[in-house]
Amino acid sequence: MRTIVSMPGDGIGKIVLPEAIRLLDAAGFKAEYVHGDIGWEFWKKEGNALPQRTIDLLEKHKIGLFGAITSKPKDDAAKELAPELQGKGFVYFSPIIGLRQHFDLDICIRPCQSFKGNPLNFIRKTANGGFEEPIVNTVIFRQNTEGLYGGVEWTNPPAQVRQAFETHPKMKNFAHVPSEELAISTRIVSKKATERIFRAAFEYAKTYGYKSVTVCEKPNVLRETSGMYLKIAKQIAKEYPEIALWDTNIDAQMMWLTKNPEDYGVIVAENMFGDIISDGFSGLIGGLGFACSANIGKDVAVFEPTHGSAPKYENLNPSIVNPIAMFLSACMMLDHIGEKEISTKIKNAIAKVVEEGKVRTYDMMKLRGGENVINQGAATTQQITDAVIANL
Ligand code: NAI
Ligand code: MG
Repeated sequence: MRTIVSMPGDGIGKIVLPEAIRLLDAAGFKAEYVHGDIGWEFWKKEGNALPQRTIDLLEKHKIGLFGAITSKPKDDAAKELAPELQGKGFVYFSPIIGLRQHFDLDICIRPCQSFKGNPLNFIRKTANGGFEEPIVNTVIFRQNTEGLYGGVEWTNPPAQVRQAFETHPKMKNFAHVPSEELAISTRIVSKKATERIFRAAFEYAKTYGYKSVTVCEKPNVLRETSGMYLKIAKQIAKEYPEIALWDTNIDAQMMWLTKNPEDYGVIVAENMFGDIISDGFSGLIGGLGFACSANIGKDVAVFEPTHGSAPKYENLNPSIVNPIAMFLSACMMLDHIGEKEISTKIKNAIAKVVEEGKVRTYDMMKLRGGENVINQGAATTQQITDAVIANL
């Protein structure tokens, strides 16, 4: 039997993760769940939102299901520390970023696939004034550890950093700017990590029958980093002659995603571009209530909805949030560990519930979230789970 580390975290993570486990049980997935402490509560109590015992659990069991965490700016975080921990040098750090870094979860997969009948699906006008609803089936591979989010950045860069930059003639444009008026965020990419993300993307395209892999960067301007992405993409593409390699610029891609999103299969991008483009595509298929993701490293993998802890809804009773993003993340976990049959069963059941349209959370009804959505006919979180279970 599998052991899964269950990390609900904060806010609605504590609501949607237990619902996902209820669904996994009903679908016949045999597993044991061990609870992993993570999130705001542990920052306040222990000065660490990602306690070592949770890292140990993941080290041991390798597979994690994660809900969501609450993050706050540094100063606000410091104020909420337990009085006995204040002023002792504790610095808040996002535990999900901590997990990605600690276990080198460098491959982030974000599928954006429309369900038939979802009222939130993207539609577009046809030339003769009608409407069409293209089926979107795009999977974003986002490099999760490097690039613009690699954390190598400074305001008022220290002298040795400044000197290092100034060895390069391109820094001349900034030579007159005093250091204290300078902010630098770097975009560093490495060959190994770039190869890993492309290899994973091509393998995924091959396994799931996608016809193209698109490298979505900006090599005409970001000549070095995007340039390396494109170069490595071309090298690896040679090993997959049956899959077409396309190359788009991030800005043009943002335009094309509302023009012809159905043309794109697998897309690969650096950390920040991948973040942008996956949010863009998720908007076409239902947004945060449907956006699932996987963070995959060499040994450990963590599966999570892309939404956060939505604090304004955490205390609503009954709960109104959409658990489908969490369910789809659990399905990605099943696919990852080879339980494809159960995963397909769950995805088909979700598709039926969405298509029938009888049980819908407030977001699918295009209501403004709040207590009264239930009176307006919206389903509770638990009712969605019940409906999916009934359709297994
Ligand atoms: P959020 O994703 O928590 O919520 C934004 C809005 O999206 C919500 O107010 C709600 O209207 C809607 N929403 C989110 N999930 C939904 C669901 N399952 N069903 C229906 N509607 C849903 O983002 P926000 O408000 O920017 O951040 C809240 C907290 O979450 C912050 O502390 C932030 O740092 C954290 N966060 C954590 C993430 C993570 O755990 N990976 C990711 C994003 C934000
Ligand atoms: Mg984002």
